[in-house]
Amino acid sequence: MHKSLVSGLGAVLVAGALLAPSIARSNVAAAVESPDISVTNTKAHLDQLQSIATSNGGNRYTGRAGYKASADYVKAKLDAAGYTTTLQSFSTSAGTSYNVIAEWPHGDANHVVMAGSHLVSVSAGPGINDNGSGSAGVLETALAYAASGQTPRNRLRFGFWGAEELGLLGSKYYVNNLPAAERDKIELYLNFDMIASPNPGYFLYDDNPAGNGARDDLVSYFTSKSIQTEFIDVQGRSDHAAFRSLGIPTAGTFSGAEEIKSSAQAAKWGGTANQAFDPCYHRSCDTIGNLDLTSLDRQIDAIGHMIWNYAQKDYTSGPPPGGDNLILNPGFESGTANWTGTTGVITNSTSRPAHGGSYKAWLQGNGRSSTENIGQSVAIPAAATAASLSLWIRIDTAETTTSTVYDTVKVQIVDNGTTATLATYSNVDRTTSYVQKTLNVLAYKGKTVTVRFLGQEDSSLQTSFVIDDVALTTS
Ligand code: PHE
Ligand code: ZN
Ligand code: ZN
Ligand code: CA
Repeated sequence: MHKSLVSGLGAVLVAGALLAPSIARSNVAAAVESPDISVTNTKAHLDQLQSIATSNGGNRYTGRAGYKASADYVKAKLDAAGYTTTLQSFSTSAGTSYNVIAEWPHGDANHVVMAGSHLVSVSAGPGINDNGSGSAGVLETALAYAASGQTPRNRLRFGFWGAEELGLLGSKYYVNNLPAAERDKIELYLNFDMIASPNPGYFLYDDNPAGNGARDDLVSYFTSKSIQTEFIDVQGRSDHAAFRSLGIPTAGTFSGAEEIKSSAQAAKWGGTANQAFDPCYHRSCDTIGNLDLTSLDRQIDAIGHMIWNYAQKDYTSGPPPGGDNLILNPGFESGTANWTGTTGVITNSTSRPAHGGSYKAWLQGNGRSSTENIGQSVAIPAAATAASLSLWIRIDTAETTTSTVYDTVKVQIVDNGTTATLATYSNVDRTTSYVQKTLNVLAYKGKTVTVRFLGQEDSSLQTSFVIDDVALTTS
């Protein structure tokens, strides 16, 4: 198999609607005033996390006392505020870790809005920006919501993840242990990982942008505060990836890590050009001194804005944003779960990038005569007035022709033994990064069909068809 190529996705700006500023509860669109989340209180949580690290060997790492103490601190605050909390433990190669889950016990439990952050640090230091900052911000927002006396329409749930630095283990553990019916109730997951970088940027995750109103609401919010934002393709680098792989809409903010701030970015955001957004990223100097409090203040108000508004969002009428994805395990992050076909196609091999997370379906790439396939059965509702199948695909090839088709992948629908090919992609369609394809499947409404990807190669020169983040949505 050939070596990996570089993947990159361009950012696409989509205008988002601002929610009207008035305090009202009704059965029409949510209209909620944004709160001012206290930066003083948030900083006080960070002081506590620093002192927890200081008295526990200088870090809050997985399996160490400083992490358990961090989880206990967060849980105690949420308990005292009236949250229903769970300390979920799981084992890792570095020892036992914990997620803290807190639910506000009001609102419609069939519609859950979640926000989360990883609480754990690396072993090198106390992890105050990464990710004390996101955790303190989410914690303070949860406490402020409880204190506000509002009655949410939806159920609010907050997650503080363990073992993120070992490969998103805490958030993966959480989603993998949620019954399918519970997964379906999660309408949105918002992630906050590093929000007070000392040389800050204002990045918004460019995740599953199709129909993702939350990302666009964040753009509108920051724009309303005269703060420019940039989209960033964070791939699978934080805990939203676990939710995203279930087809749950996700969004998040990020003030930057080891990457260098350009002069154009310094011109719009201030700070120092040609220096990292966080020069102490994953180092011992990520201490209480490694924070930009203006960034923290702005970011926590954005968290508050999202929580207050999405707490009231009406998920009971009209189509959900982007529609529910009928494909299970659509990003392959649960491996072969829900898919059948050729062994080895679904892989987390680093020889090819995933579009999201680490797993994808890598068809062919053998360089010899062969076929491979994977598929999944899906029931398309009879009441659908639109139904589309979308997928992200990346094609690299050792073929040199730009016109002759040698190797192909077909997107097929198998309906009661009859196979229809909706699209064929080949070595001629090579791409250097993922591209999204959308196909109309309304003809199959009212039927249970198999969505199948079938690869075929000729006797030499490999072509790799890598597919990720499949969605079948209806309205
Ligand atoms: N998750 C990364 C870490 O903890 C940081 C990160 C956050 C990177 C968001 C990209 C986007 O090290
Ligand atoms: Zn980190
Ligand atoms: Zn992080
Ligand atoms: Ca994936």
